[in-house]
Amino acid sequence: MEPCHLPLPASMIVRLFGVFVALLLPEFVFCMTRNYTFNIVQHNVTRLCHTKSIVSINGRFPGPRIVAREGDQLLVKVVNHVSNNITIHWHGIRQIRSGWADGPAYVTQCPIQTGQTYTYNFTITGQRGTLFWHAHISWMRATLYGPIIILPKRNESYPFRKPYKEVPIIFGEWWNADPEAVINQALQTGGGPNVSDAYTINGFPGPLYNCSSKDTFRLKVKPGKTYMLRLINAAMNDELFFSIANHTVIIVEADAVYIKPFQTDVVMITLGQTTNVLLKTKPYYPNATFLMAARPYFTGQGTFDNSTVAGILEYEHPLNHTFNTKKMVFKPTLPPLNATTLVANFTRKFRSLNNPNFTASVPQTVDKQFYFTLGLGSSPCPKNTTCQGPNGTKFAASVNNVSFALPTTALLQAYISKKSNGVYTTDFPTNPPSPFNYTGTPPNNTLVSNATRLVALPFNTSVELVLQDTSILGAENHPLHLHGFNFFVVGQGFGNYNPTQDPANFNLVDPVERNTFGVPAGGWVAIRFLADNPGVWFMHCHFDVHTSWGLRMAWIVMDGPLPSQKLPPPPSDLPEC
Ligand code: C2O
Repeated sequence: MEPCHLPLPASMIVRLFGVFVALLLPEFVFCMTRNYTFNIVQHNVTRLCHTKSIVSINGRFPGPRIVAREGDQLLVKVVNHVSNNITIHWHGIRQIRSGWADGPAYVTQCPIQTGQTYTYNFTITGQRGTLFWHAHISWMRATLYGPIIILPKRNESYPFRKPYKEVPIIFGEWWNADPEAVINQALQTGGGPNVSDAYTINGFPGPLYNCSSKDTFRLKVKPGKTYMLRLINAAMNDELFFSIANHTVIIVEADAVYIKPFQTDVVMITLGQTTNVLLKTKPYYPNATFLMAARPYFTGQGTFDNSTVAGILEYEHPLNHTFNTKKMVFKPTLPPLNATTLVANFTRKFRSLNNPNFTASVPQTVDKQFYFTLGLGSSPCPKNTTCQGPNGTKFAASVNNVSFALPTTALLQAYISKKSNGVYTTDFPTNPPSPFNYTGTPPNNTLVSNATRLVALPFNTSVELVLQDTSILGAENHPLHLHGFNFFVVGQGFGNYNPTQDPANFNLVDPVERNTFGVPAGGWVAIRFLADNPGVWFMHCHFDVHTSWGLRMAWIVMDGPLPSQKLPPPPSDLPEC
């Protein structure tokens, strides 16, 4: 570790060096530069009695933790030693004026090719809690993911009592097959991809799967203590319910923003979400063990992996005796797979803390309104082939009926070098191109268009965006993720959004601030954000299969007039396509 670069002339740094620096400029002294090296390698892993070679970081699965404090600068040097193209995304990191480090392939950068190196350089500003990093190209994130732990600044504390211990709990999804082969085959045939073979907690499937009781995550706890679990849903295609037998938790943070604490015995965590929960252990040694389990929340119509992952919560005996008596094992009750109302009630409980220390800066006025439909659709089957999608077509997915085509060069590079011609246009539809009863009987024509259309926003535009699920090929909850910003969830409901009635019920005081939020199956969500971060920002469904089918688009946020409102030029090691 070394001190961050001071935003002062070198002469002043020299003159100020010494004790006075600490007195005069505490935040500069407390902020550090943290260096990590991510070597992307192949290594063998055995799960479900099945050994295969996976792509990993430094031979670790799940990948290494990034630990930093709010205000720190991170330099992550990624060296690609495998044959796949790779990019890494720091999911939820705001990347203020560091869009070159955001990571989505063909959006902010070209992939890091075999033998190449790219150093992601960014500073964590105004965020603290849990986020995660993952590969952001094709389905490589199936094995390339890990936690980002952002501690408060050195002189600051949590807005709740410091937990005794903190434990990341990262949910993943395991295929015995190669996930790249799974998605490539699906895109070729037009059908739905094969589902996973297991879910994992910190890489382990746990005792409810074949051949996996040794591969179980165990959380050893002491009685009468508070543990903070940093929950991360890094699975590919499944939203999850999570519960610990005979215990409740208190949710205190979501997507690296503190919330008003609330108690629950079941957590629904959608793809791309992270949430910190406090687990108070029983006051006395219970002579029992407790499963902590997760299984899907599923609202779609296709097939899905409906298995259950479990870890074990076990209490250490206060006298360190190991009793040979067989301990009781308690199992949690998880909600029904399609408990849509329960999920709606749960997500409504999240409220920003909104106190003098942690304010919720909800945009009170709106410069631009957008209404986007999200959902599935179809694209034609190429001549002389048979397709396995709906009615012999290929599955597709779209935003306002545009299935977003990724270019072969990076959008941000094309934008900065003013070479958008033939790469993208900025005419993304602000409203559904042909209105219909979105949550009623779907139209007969479900064909989507295919294009690379973006929205361009002047710096500091206050945006209101209503996301509307459609019932085309089945209404479904869509975990929508926005890069580069947190947004405020000001309203949500079932059915079609009503622009004359619904805004009256918007919460403009303490709505939750997140980077990912589930658009309810057969419903809508209204979000607001301030476009104060110049760059090109991807927005997509975090179901990887929907992203692959085109449920994605991008926003350009233009530079502002001041030097501090402009995106710096690209780093010299930015990969080329
Ligand atoms: Cu977690 Cu664009 O991704």
